[in-house]
Amino acid sequence: MQYKRILLKLSGEALMGDRQYGIDPKRLAEYAKEIKEVVEKGIEVAIVIGGGNIFRGVAGAANGMDRVQGDHMGMLATCINGLALQSALEDADVKTRLQTALEIKEVAEPYIKRKAIRHLEKGRVVIFGAGTGNPYFTTDTAAVLRAIEIDADAILKGTRVNGIYNADPEKDKNAVKFETITFKEVIEKGLKVMDMTAFTLSEENNLPIIVFDMNTNGNLLKLVSGEKIGTIVDS
Ligand code: GTP
Repeated sequence: MQYKRILLKLSGEALMGDRQYGIDPKRLAEYAKEIKEVVEKGIEVAIVIGGGNIFRGVAGAANGMDRVQGDHMGMLATCINGLALQSALEDADVKTRLQTALEIKEVAEPYIKRKAIRHLEKGRVVIFGAGTGNPYFTTDTAAVLRAIEIDADAILKGTRVNGIYNADPEKDKNAVKFETITFKEVIEKGLKVMDMTAFTLSEENNLPIIVFDMNTNGNLLKLVSGEKIGTIVDS
């Protein structure tokens, strides 16, 4: 196996499947199956999930809502997704723990780094909810932060596209995919992988980012097994 401990970043939007809003149970079950496959190989898996399928603080602010208020709503949305993912994983007989950056003790454990690492060592999937617990930060930043804290080997960003291209592959049919790219090249070429806070945090801590298509069955397992799936951003 290429990686021992991974931080998987999933977008909230991906949970919608073909819907316009909310959670598609079919997509959720598919993700649980993909995650189970890698857990069964002995990979330690931590997950950060976005909340955009329910609420985005930035979108709220664009409509006149106070940004902090909107971001708090977004953080709660990630907790809803975390609970849904936890439930789907447990339906698939995968042991999980949900830890949240905002305390909602009756619902989930508070985030404690050392406890999260123990859970991982015991083979439990740890889902981190509520982002970083602070407004103005994205769940990509939360994913990088948690990945560094738990000493993950890499951050695996599951998306709809199968890597990083020199142009938007959904708009430009001549777009070319990079197999590997450096942090420096991403910045020079003005490519969008993550927001700059998340990206520079990853670069400063030598944490590789792998962008891959999470919606193709078997991709996650192939990736952790060392197959060249997606694009690797590394120093
Ligand atoms: P080990 O100590 O490694 O065995 O971990 P553990 O998670 O099994 O032990 P613990 O006694 O901490 O937790 C038992 C159960 O309670 C687990 O399902 C935890 O997720 C849950 N749990 C622990 N702390 C909290 C909390 O603060 N809030 C909520 N809602 N659940 C918690």
